[in-house]
Amino acid sequence: MTTAILSALPEEQAGLVHALAHPQRITRAGRSFWRGELHGRSVVLALSGIGKVAAATTATALVEHFGVARIVFTGVAGGLGDGVNVGDVVVAQSYLQHDMDASPLFPRWELPGYARAVLECDAPLSALLLIAARDCLIGGSGHFSSQSEVRSVHQGLIASGDRFVSSAQESQRLRDALRAAGHEVLAVEMEGAAVAQVCLDYNVPFAAMRTISDRADDTAHVDFPQFIQTVASRYAEHIVGKLLQLL
Ligand code: ADE
Repeated sequence: MTTAILSALPEEQAGLVHALAHPQRITRAGRSFWRGELHGRSVVLALSGIGKVAAATTATALVEHFGVARIVFTGVAGGLGDGVNVGDVVVAQSYLQHDMDASPLFPRWELPGYARAVLECDAPLSALLLIAARDCLIGGSGHFSSQSEVRSVHQGLIASGDRFVSSAQESQRLRDALRAAGHEVLAVEMEGAAVAQVCLDYNVPFAAMRTISDRADDTAHVDFPQFIQTVASRYAEHIVGKLLQLL
């Protein structure tokens, strides 16, 4: 049973590659995949690339070529929900593509052919990821105890789309439009919903966690790179490590 660990950016993946036992690099679809063991578990590490299509290609290769049993995504996101602050973690319960619009042929956000807008993540795998995130951020493991602020772990809907959301006006508009349709969105990023769709197609369990790097507002472009460098990689390494021990 091999677990795929997908990261969006090299900085987020670096710690995981470094910790890999018996690392083996394989090139496929113009991408590097790292096969090896983490905490005694067989894993494949991969970069999703940025955006929905790149992520879908990587996810498809993980299933078709590596035959992975499950996919876990770690990355960063912009916080949209109230109280979803920089440094918090959001574990995805479900995903939606906020830039999907085949209206008036289909209702806004509905995925044509799937008869729904929202794709659920795998509940048991997501429950373990939530435990791992809570343990690392606010539990007794103390990985982040040097940080004075108390971090929160949230679980809910994440929206993906091929846009870096970088103004308060845009994030407010996005949030309000989704809320009016009954979708309370916690965070926005650029890949997860595509991976969720590939995993649904192949019936592969999928879970995702996103550390909040910015508030998808006018300072998002400044906050984002700073955060990636300093925090995201450590979060990914510790939370994934804990998850693998729980599997
Ligand atoms: N990933 C991290 N921050 C983001 C933002 N503001 N918009 C889209 N994807 C993101």
